[in-house]
Amino acid sequence: MPEYVSESCAGSPVSRGAPGSLILGIETSCDETAAAVVADGRAVWASQVASSAALQSRYGGVVPELAARQHVRALPLVVAAALDQAGVGPGALTAVAVTQGPGLLGSLLLGLTAAKALALAWGKPLWGVNHLEAHLHANAATAPIQFPNLALLVSGGHTGLFWWDGPGRLRRLAETRDDAAGEAFDKGARLLGLEYPGGPAVERVAAAAVRPWPSLPVARMGDGTLDFSFSGLKSALQRAVAAEPVLAAGDQARWAAALQEAVAAQIADRLTRAWATAPVPHVYAAGGVMANRALRARLEAWAAERGVALHVPPVALCTDNAAMVALAAAAHGPAAAIGLEASPRIPWELASGADPAR
Ligand code: KG4
Ligand code: ZN
Repeated sequence: MPEYVSESCAGSPVSRGAPGSLILGIETSCDETAAAVVADGRAVWASQVASSAALQSRYGGVVPELAARQHVRALPLVVAAALDQAGVGPGALTAVAVTQGPGLLGSLLLGLTAAKALALAWGKPLWGVNHLEAHLHANAATAPIQFPNLALLVSGGHTGLFWWDGPGRLRRLAETRDDAAGEAFDKGARLLGLEYPGGPAVERVAAAAVRPWPSLPVARMGDGTLDFSFSGLKSALQRAVAAEPVLAAGDQARWAAALQEAVAAQIADRLTRAWATAPVPHVYAAGGVMANRALRARLEAWAAERGVALHVPPVALCTDNAAMVALAAAAHGPAAAIGLEASPRIPWELASGADPAR
């Protein structure tokens, strides 16, 4: 059976009136199968996530075929569980929203096919969502998003910095030249003998580290751009631990702390330089890596020093989930109706619901 992590509702049942909109979100872009119900573009009535990470862990990363098979098994269960948690039937929904891309093609197709079938059977409109933008929209679960703002996305597949002018309007300032921030954690964890996914494992082990720990390099681009580069961390770590066939627990903790700190330092460096060019009052961060408490604390301190309002979703809405998909769809509204093709390589710039073929 798929392993379930059930996240709690954000909206209290007492405050529930009849919502203006009630969107079922579906997310299957990688190894999480998720469904959620969101009312009025802000209240998360239900969020269910079935992850195949424990299974993938045996292979040291995501095996697309395995992920796809798990989606087939988990999709009907998470959708039923989300409706049950929200306490609503399909008739109460105003739309079904689904991740269109980017992601693994097989995984995306399964989510899309399920969403199409449900929308058709229930007679509801179907809206497509860009997964990258959806991560940022997870912030709407806490408070309405203030535009324009500076936005940071740090996930397992992507790392980028944007001026975010409104739903679907992202102007890219920087992206990674090589590994994404989450990949730095995943690859680093493997070098340290830790399991997949690496981020939570590194965070857990780093908690036992005692200062001083080593420092790993913080890359800057020679061409002066704000682009990120994390692949040097993997090489530096590889050199550092190569001599030791099995790391002592203390060393594992020290290097995990060093890795976590170097990733956070690079992100803080890019934020500092981007913000200095236009000191906007609001900064939004999102993506699986923002679940990291050391990174959250570092960016909170960064924001406090500058009097900036930093917005980060609750930890459960940082990693892949479907509440963010429904929240993004609600922000776009009916204009997000789509041609319904999976778009594994849909770029940042394409708004949720835009037709990538155009
Ligand atoms: O956003 P996400 O769930 O999926 C993608 O869209 O890629 O991000 C997954 C990434 C993985 O690389 C994972 O190791 C990382 O987020 N991650 C973390 C933590 N939890 C997940 N990285 C650092 N610390 C964490 N606590
Ligand atoms: Zn994601």
